[in-house]
Amino acid sequence: MTGNRLTARDLTLSYESRTVVDGLDLEIPQGKVTVVVGPNACGKSTLLRALGRLLKPRRGAVLLDGVELSRIPTKQIARTIGLLPQTPTPPEGITVADLVARGRQPHQKWWQQWSGDDERAVTEAMERTDVAELAERPVDELSGGQRQRVWIAMALAQDTDLLLLDEPTTYLDIAHQVEVLDLVRRLNLERARTVVAVLHDLNQAARYADHLVAMKAGRVIAQGAPRDIVTADLVREVFGLASVVVPDPVTGDPLVVPGAPWRPAVNRDSVDPVKGPAATPAD
Ligand SMILES: Nc1ncnc2c1ncn2[C@@H]1O[C@H](COP(=O)(O)OP(=O)(O)OP(=O)(O)O)[C@@H](O)[C@H]1O
Ligand SMILES: [Mg+2]
Repeated sequence: MTGNRLTARDLTLSYESRTVVDGLDLEIPQGKVTVVVGPNACGKSTLLRALGRLLKPRRGAVLLDGVELSRIPTKQIARTIGLLPQTPTPPEGITVADLVARGRQPHQKWWQQWSGDDERAVTEAMERTDVAELAERPVDELSGGQRQRVWIAMALAQDTDLLLLDEPTTYLDIAHQVEVLDLVRRLNLERARTVVAVLHDLNQAARYADHLVAMKAGRVIAQGAPRDIVTADLVREVFGLASVVVPDPVTGDPLVVPGAPWRPAVNRDSVDPVKGPAATPAD
Protein backbone atom coordinates (compact mmCIF):
# COMPACT_ATOMS: atom_id res chain seq x y z
CA MET A 1 0.00 0.00 0.00
CA THR A 2 1.26 3.48 -0.80
CA GLY A 3 0.03 6.96 0.04
CA ASN A 4 -1.01 8.14 3.45
CA ARG A 5 -2.58 5.91 6.06
CA LEU A 6 -3.06 8.67 8.60
CA THR A 7 -4.38 12.04 7.58
CA ALA A 8 -5.42 15.01 9.67
CA ARG A 9 -7.99 17.31 8.08
CA ASP A 10 -8.72 20.76 9.43
CA LEU A 11 -7.78 19.36 12.83
CA THR A 12 -8.59 21.59 15.78
CA LEU A 13 -7.63 20.36 19.25
CA SER A 14 -8.52 22.09 22.50
CA TYR A 15 -8.35 21.63 26.23
CA GLU A 16 -11.59 23.16 27.48
CA SER A 17 -11.54 26.73 26.16
CA ARG A 18 -7.86 26.73 25.11
CA THR A 19 -7.28 25.83 21.47
CA VAL A 20 -3.84 24.28 21.00
CA VAL A 21 -3.97 23.10 17.40
CA ASP A 22 -6.05 25.06 14.95
CA GLY A 23 -7.15 23.89 11.51
CA LEU A 24 -4.13 21.66 10.92
CA ASP A 25 -3.83 19.61 7.74
CA LEU A 26 -1.23 16.86 7.78
CA GLU A 27 -0.50 13.67 5.90
CA ILE A 28 1.66 10.95 7.39
CA PRO A 29 3.36 9.17 4.51
CA GLN A 30 2.90 5.41 4.51
CA GLY A 31 6.03 3.35 5.17
CA LYS A 32 8.14 6.36 6.12
CA VAL A 33 9.61 7.84 9.28
CA THR A 34 8.04 11.20 10.04
CA VAL A 35 9.65 13.34 12.74
CA VAL A 36 7.82 16.24 14.38
CA VAL A 37 9.90 19.08 15.84
CA GLY A 38 8.94 22.36 17.45
CA PRO A 39 9.32 24.39 20.62
CA ASN A 40 7.92 23.34 24.00
CA ALA A 41 4.15 23.70 24.26
CA CYS A 42 3.60 24.10 20.49
CA GLY A 43 1.21 21.14 20.43
CA LYS A 44 3.35 18.14 19.37
CA SER A 45 2.12 15.77 22.10
CA THR A 46 -1.42 17.03 21.65
CA LEU A 47 -1.22 16.26 17.94
CA LEU A 48 0.22 12.79 18.58
CA ARG A 49 -2.54 11.99 21.05
CA ALA A 50 -5.13 12.96 18.46
CA LEU A 51 -3.41 10.81 15.81
CA GLY A 52 -3.67 7.89 18.26
CA ARG A 53 -7.29 8.72 19.16
CA LEU A 54 -6.51 9.53 22.77
CA LEU A 55 -7.87 13.02 22.18
CA LYS A 56 -11.07 13.82 20.35
CA PRO A 57 -10.89 16.65 17.81
CA ARG A 58 -12.87 19.78 18.58
CA ARG A 59 -13.25 20.24 14.83
CA GLY A 60 -12.02 18.32 11.78
CA ALA A 61 -10.88 14.71 11.86
CA VAL A 62 -8.08 12.17 11.77
CA LEU A 63 -8.55 9.52 9.10
CA LEU A 64 -7.03 6.04 9.05
CA ASP A 65 -7.11 4.61 5.55
CA GLY A 66 -9.75 7.21 4.74
CA VAL A 67 -12.04 6.35 7.66
CA GLU A 68 -12.52 8.70 10.61
CA LEU A 69 -10.86 7.31 13.74
CA SER A 70 -14.05 7.91 15.71
CA ARG A 71 -15.81 5.35 13.49
CA ILE A 72 -13.25 2.55 13.94
CA PRO A 73 -13.61 0.00 16.78
CA THR A 74 -11.11 0.57 19.60
CA LYS A 75 -9.58 -2.88 19.33
CA GLN A 76 -8.92 -2.43 15.62
CA ILE A 77 -7.19 0.88 16.32
CA ALA A 78 -5.10 -0.75 19.05
CA ARG A 79 -3.97 -3.42 16.60
CA THR A 80 -3.01 -0.80 14.04
CA ILE A 81 -1.67 2.19 15.97
CA GLY A 82 0.78 1.99 18.89
CA LEU A 83 1.33 5.16 20.90
CA LEU A 84 4.14 5.82 23.33
CA PRO A 85 3.09 8.89 25.34
CA GLN A 86 5.62 11.44 26.55
CA THR A 87 5.19 10.63 30.26
CA PRO A 88 3.38 7.33 30.69
CA THR A 89 2.63 6.12 34.23
CA PRO A 90 3.05 2.43 35.02
CA PRO A 91 0.50 0.61 37.17
CA GLU A 92 1.90 0.49 40.70
CA GLY A 93 4.23 -2.41 41.44
CA ILE A 94 4.07 -3.91 37.92
CA THR A 95 7.13 -5.81 36.70
CA VAL A 96 8.89 -5.13 33.42
CA ALA A 97 7.75 -8.41 31.85
CA ASP A 98 4.13 -7.79 32.85
CA LEU A 99 4.13 -4.24 31.51
CA VAL A 100 5.61 -5.29 28.17
CA ALA A 101 3.06 -8.13 28.02
CA ARG A 102 0.26 -5.54 28.25
CA GLY A 103 1.24 -4.48 24.76
CA ARG A 104 -0.26 -7.76 23.58
CA GLN A 105 -3.75 -7.09 24.92
CA PRO A 106 -5.21 -5.93 21.60
CA HIS A 107 -4.17 -9.25 20.02
CA GLN A 108 -5.62 -11.53 22.68
CA LYS A 109 -8.78 -13.49 22.05
CA TRP A 110 -11.34 -14.47 24.65
CA TRP A 111 -10.71 -18.16 24.05
CA GLN A 112 -6.95 -17.88 24.22
CA GLN A 113 -5.41 -15.58 26.78
CA TRP A 114 -1.76 -16.01 25.84
CA SER A 115 -0.34 -17.49 22.65
CA GLY A 116 3.06 -18.44 21.27
CA ASP A 117 2.90 -15.27 19.12
CA ASP A 118 2.42 -13.19 22.28
CA GLU A 119 5.39 -14.88 23.94
CA ARG A 120 7.62 -14.35 20.90
CA ALA A 121 6.60 -10.70 20.48
CA VAL A 122 7.31 -9.91 24.15
CA THR A 123 10.67 -11.71 24.21
CA GLU A 124 11.77 -10.06 20.99
CA ALA A 125 10.65 -6.59 22.09
CA MET A 126 12.57 -6.93 25.37
CA GLU A 127 15.69 -8.12 23.60
CA ARG A 128 15.58 -5.37 20.99
CA THR A 129 15.34 -2.69 23.67
CA ASP A 130 17.96 -4.21 25.92
CA VAL A 131 15.64 -4.81 28.90
CA ALA A 132 15.52 -8.64 28.98
CA GLU A 133 17.64 -8.81 32.13
CA LEU A 134 15.27 -6.40 33.89
CA ALA A 135 12.24 -8.67 33.27
CA GLU A 136 11.43 -9.39 36.91
CA ARG A 137 12.20 -5.92 38.30
CA PRO A 138 9.37 -3.58 39.31
CA VAL A 139 9.13 -0.73 36.79
CA ASP A 140 8.95 1.93 39.58
CA GLU A 141 12.43 0.96 40.70
CA LEU A 142 14.15 1.50 37.35
CA SER A 143 16.24 4.45 36.24
CA GLY A 144 14.63 6.96 33.85
CA GLY A 145 16.44 5.51 30.84
CA GLN A 146 15.69 1.89 31.73
CA ARG A 147 12.04 2.79 32.20
CA GLN A 148 11.91 4.58 28.86
CA ARG A 149 13.24 1.46 27.12
CA VAL A 150 10.61 -0.67 28.84
CA TRP A 151 7.86 1.58 27.46
CA ILE A 152 9.38 1.31 24.01
CA ALA A 153 9.41 -2.48 24.43
CA MET A 154 5.71 -2.38 25.29
CA ALA A 155 4.96 -0.34 22.17
CA LEU A 156 7.01 -2.79 20.05
CA ALA A 157 5.24 -5.81 21.58
CA GLN A 158 1.96 -4.31 20.39
CA ASP A 159 3.32 -5.01 16.90
CA THR A 160 1.36 -2.34 15.05
CA ASP A 161 1.86 -1.06 11.51
CA LEU A 162 1.86 2.48 12.82
CA LEU A 163 4.02 3.63 15.71
CA LEU A 164 3.60 7.05 17.32
CA LEU A 165 6.52 7.82 19.64
CA ASP A 166 6.51 10.96 21.77
CA GLU A 167 10.13 11.80 22.57
CA PRO A 168 11.32 8.17 22.65
CA THR A 169 14.91 9.24 23.35
CA THR A 170 14.20 11.30 26.49
CA TYR A 171 16.29 10.14 29.45
CA LEU A 172 18.47 7.91 27.27
CA ASP A 173 22.24 8.17 27.19
CA ILE A 174 23.70 8.89 23.77
CA ALA A 175 24.39 5.23 22.95
CA HIS A 176 20.84 4.18 23.82
CA GLN A 177 19.44 7.16 21.87
CA VAL A 178 21.20 5.97 18.75
CA GLU A 179 20.18 2.38 19.46
CA VAL A 180 16.51 3.34 19.73
CA LEU A 181 16.61 5.49 16.61
CA ASP A 182 18.40 2.74 14.68
CA LEU A 183 15.79 0.28 15.91
CA VAL A 184 13.02 2.58 14.68
CA ARG A 185 14.74 2.79 11.32
CA ARG A 186 15.13 -1.00 11.12
CA LEU A 187 11.47 -1.57 11.96
CA ASN A 188 10.64 0.86 9.21
CA LEU A 189 12.91 -0.73 6.60
CA GLU A 190 12.56 -4.42 7.47
CA ARG A 191 8.93 -4.48 8.54
CA ALA A 192 7.52 -1.53 6.64
CA ARG A 193 6.37 0.20 9.81
CA THR A 194 5.13 3.76 9.49
CA VAL A 195 6.58 5.84 12.30
CA VAL A 196 5.80 9.28 13.68
CA ALA A 197 8.26 10.44 16.34
CA VAL A 198 8.58 13.68 18.25
CA LEU A 199 12.23 14.58 18.77
CA HIS A 200 13.94 17.65 20.22
CA ASP A 201 17.38 17.09 18.74
CA LEU A 202 17.24 18.75 15.33
CA ASN A 203 20.29 16.88 14.08
CA GLN A 204 18.88 13.50 15.01
CA ALA A 205 15.60 14.61 13.44
CA ALA A 206 17.36 15.56 10.20
CA ARG A 207 19.27 12.30 10.15
CA TYR A 208 16.43 9.89 10.88
CA ALA A 209 13.43 11.56 9.26
CA ASP A 210 12.26 10.84 5.74
CA HIS A 211 9.63 13.46 6.33
CA LEU A 212 10.15 16.30 8.78
CA VAL A 213 7.32 18.39 10.18
CA ALA A 214 8.20 21.67 11.91
CA MET A 215 5.46 23.03 14.16
CA LYS A 216 5.01 26.29 15.97
CA ALA A 217 2.04 27.45 18.04
CA GLY A 218 -0.17 24.61 16.84
CA ARG A 219 0.54 25.11 13.16
CA VAL A 220 2.78 23.40 10.62
CA ILE A 221 5.42 25.90 9.51
CA ALA A 222 7.21 23.60 7.06
CA GLN A 223 7.27 19.95 6.08
CA GLY A 224 9.27 17.87 3.66
CA ALA A 225 12.59 16.07 3.34
CA PRO A 226 15.07 17.47 5.90
CA ARG A 227 17.50 18.47 3.13
CA ASP A 228 14.78 20.54 1.51
CA ILE A 229 13.48 22.36 4.57
CA VAL A 230 16.14 22.67 7.30
CA THR A 231 17.68 26.13 6.96
CA ALA A 232 18.85 28.79 9.41
CA ASP A 233 15.73 30.78 8.46
CA LEU A 234 13.48 27.88 9.46
CA VAL A 235 15.32 27.40 12.78
CA ARG A 236 14.92 31.13 13.48
CA GLU A 237 11.26 31.14 12.52
CA VAL A 238 10.35 28.04 14.53
CA PHE A 239 12.60 28.38 17.59
CA GLY A 240 13.57 32.07 17.49
CA LEU A 241 17.18 30.88 17.52
CA ALA A 242 20.13 32.01 15.44
CA SER A 243 22.08 29.10 13.97
CA VAL A 244 24.31 28.04 11.15
CA VAL A 245 23.21 25.10 9.01
CA VAL A 246 25.96 23.18 7.24
CA PRO A 247 25.99 19.78 5.51
CA ASP A 248 26.97 17.06 7.97
CA PRO A 249 30.46 16.03 6.87
CA VAL A 250 29.61 12.34 7.40
CA THR A 251 26.05 11.97 6.12
CA GLY A 252 25.42 15.15 4.12
CA ASP A 253 22.21 15.76 6.12
CA PRO A 254 21.66 19.30 7.38
CA LEU A 255 23.63 19.89 10.56
CA VAL A 256 22.31 22.68 12.78
CA VAL A 257 24.97 24.48 14.79
CA PRO A 258 22.96 26.46 17.33
CA GLY A 259 23.85 30.03 18.25
CA ALA A 260 25.14 32.90 16.16
CA PRO A 261 28.60 32.54 14.62
CA TRP A 262 30.64 33.39 17.64
CA ARG A 263 34.11 34.69 18.27
CA PRO A 264 35.35 35.62 21.74
CA ALA A 265 35.16 39.36 22.31
CA VAL A 266 38.07 39.17 24.77
CA ASN A 267 41.26 37.23 24.79
CA ARG A 268 40.80 34.51 27.43
CA ASP A 269 44.40 34.90 28.66
CA SER A 270 43.87 38.57 29.45
CA VAL A 271 40.90 37.89 31.74
CA ASP A 272 41.59 38.59 35.40
CA PRO A 273 40.23 35.55 37.28
CA VAL A 274 38.82 37.79 40.05
CA LYS A 275 37.77 40.98 38.26
CA GLY A 276 36.62 39.26 35.07
CA PRO A 277 37.18 40.66 31.58
CA ALA A 278 38.37 44.23 31.24
CA ALA A 279 35.79 46.61 29.77
CA THR A 280 36.02 46.40 25.98
CA PRO A 281 36.32 49.82 24.38
CA ALA A 282 33.29 50.68 22.28
CA ASP A 283 33.82 50.06 18.55
N1 LIG B 1 -4.20 17.99 29.69
C1 LIG B 1 -4.05 19.28 29.40
N2 LIG B 1 -4.92 20.21 29.87
C2 LIG B 1 -4.81 21.53 29.58
N3 LIG B 1 -3.83 22.03 28.79
C3 LIG B 1 -2.95 21.17 28.28
C4 LIG B 1 -3.00 19.75 28.56
N4 LIG B 1 -1.97 19.14 27.92
C5 LIG B 1 -1.31 20.12 27.28
N5 LIG B 1 -1.88 21.33 27.49
C6 LIG B 1 -1.43 22.61 26.95
O1 LIG B 1 -1.43 22.52 25.53
C7 LIG B 1 -0.29 23.18 24.98
C8 LIG B 1 0.47 22.18 24.10
O2 LIG B 1 0.97 21.13 24.92
P1 LIG B 1 1.73 19.88 24.32
O3 LIG B 1 1.94 18.93 25.44
O4 LIG B 1 1.00 19.40 23.13
O5 LIG B 1 3.09 20.56 23.85
P2 LIG B 1 4.42 19.92 23.24
O6 LIG B 1 4.66 20.58 21.92
O7 LIG B 1 4.34 18.45 23.26
O8 LIG B 1 5.52 20.45 24.28
P3 LIG B 1 6.84 19.73 24.90
O9 LIG B 1 7.93 19.92 23.90
O10 LIG B 1 7.10 20.54 26.13
O11 LIG B 1 6.51 18.31 25.18
C9 LIG B 1 0.51 23.72 26.15
O12 LIG B 1 0.20 25.08 26.30
C10 LIG B 1 0.00 22.93 27.34
O13 LIG B 1 0.05 23.69 28.53
MG1 LIG C 1 5.30 17.00 24.32
